[in-house]
Amino acid sequence: MFNWILPFSYLLASILFILSIRGLASPKTAREGNLLGMAGMLIAIVTTLYSPLVSDIALTIGVIIVGGMIGTYSALHVKMTSLPQMIAAFNGLGGLSAVLISLAEIIAGSPAYLEASLGLIIGAVAFSGSMIAFAKLQGLISAKALVFPFQQFLNLVLTVAAVTLCIMFIRSGNHELFFWLAGIAILLGFLLILPIGGADMPVVISVLNSYSGWAAVGIGFSLNNVLLIIVGAIVGASGAILSYIMVKAMNRSLLSVMLGGFGAETHQASAAGTAGKIAKTGNPQDAAFIMENANKVIIVPGYGMAVAQAQHVLREMADDLRKLYDVKVMFAIHPVAGRMPGHMNVLLAEANVPYEDVYELEDINREFATADVAYVIGANDVTNPLAKTDPESPIYGMPVLDVGKAKTVFFVKRSLASGYSGVENPLFFADNTIMLYGDAKVVTEEIVGALEEK
Ligand code: TAP
Repeated sequence: MFNWILPFSYLLASILFILSIRGLASPKTAREGNLLGMAGMLIAIVTTLYSPLVSDIALTIGVIIVGGMIGTYSALHVKMTSLPQMIAAFNGLGGLSAVLISLAEIIAGSPAYLEASLGLIIGAVAFSGSMIAFAKLQGLISAKALVFPFQQFLNLVLTVAAVTLCIMFIRSGNHELFFWLAGIAILLGFLLILPIGGADMPVVISVLNSYSGWAAVGIGFSLNNVLLIIVGAIVGASGAILSYIMVKAMNRSLLSVMLGGFGAETHQASAAGTAGKIAKTGNPQDAAFIMENANKVIIVPGYGMAVAQAQHVLREMADDLRKLYDVKVMFAIHPVAGRMPGHMNVLLAEANVPYEDVYELEDINREFATADVAYVIGANDVTNPLAKTDPESPIYGMPVLDVGKAKTVFFVKRSLASGYSGVENPLFFADNTIMLYGDAKVVTEEIVGALEEK
């Protein structure tokens, strides 16, 4: 009887995973997408527990409970701004599992040398690379690009050594070669990610995520497990597509990200031609007055809004402007605002900002010219006009939100400091810009207070 249950359940789980990815494509359906993925995973786990693959059910359930508790605790306690490093850490564990499974398979005498080797190499690079990404994002090591002489040459030598060992192992089946292969691949993962700067880390995590998916495909072939092959391919392909979308939004090439060096240096004021210029400063009451007399206000959130957790009060401000003063309010989201894909969409959805008020870059850019106010809250790089005008700038070519075209631009941030790319923003010194210095949440709370005072 079991003969048909296993493939049927695996097929059902695979369909649920595919529907889950489809659901996650839009904030409107993301919750259902998540639930479908969880249902698929539950079916996959229960089916696997009943399959002949599992020899010690008690031990397996014990491990699932401990792992599940660690995962639940981390997910409940992680700050929204620390999600990228959590994803990096979990991704690394996925890579490590691929390494351990392929080692166990080979030690147990599996003849699937090629599949196990591929799973081992990709899994090992995903593991050690993700550990470096985690350490950089968590501030355990410097986020700067760590560059040393002959780095690329050393990586090339290690890659050639890994390929040679892999071929020798497949021909001879000598276990010792397999262990050497594991060591070299782990070292390669460390060295590949060290020269990449913090600003590129989200792309790197997405690439490593894709690697761990392909490692699962390799392991799936060596274990003859169809579900692992399908799920691995979904993770591998979606990670690759996400990386492509991110580099495209930053106008970089994946090769330039992976070869590293970006984020190693910062551009000083002189690069933006702003040395000696003075930025105009305003206060929340002035801002409230200008906004309540406006016809159209466009809100541009960025990383600082996430840090300050200002999304709820921001929604209150938008509601007040609409209800009390009949102002048209729109939200503009840049594809790489924040520190991870969809960062701003998630926060605005959490604060119940209606989806129809949230616009993507291509749809909102033409609106700035007719807007009275651009309220830029904790965003910086995504508005920087140097991305269009300075070919020397590291952000040159990145599409930006044209906030400078609005009649008045408010920048809510704590100082004139640059954003993640380290590039100074000349818009701070523009005639129509007013700086509102302070924490994004505090400043917006004061504006809400002033709007509701009358
Ligand atoms: P950033 O350019 O990093 O600017 C964020 C600004 O927020 C900072 O200048 C900071 O200025 C301000 N800030 C920090 N804490 C604040 C607080 N509590 N209250 C008020 N302001 C605060 O952010 P962005 O415009 O969102 O751009 C994102 C950057 O990340 C881009 O360079 C992008 O390429 C990079 N990146 C993003 C992604 C994804 S997928 N999102 C992936 C890779 C790279 P002060 O210190 O003066 O307050």
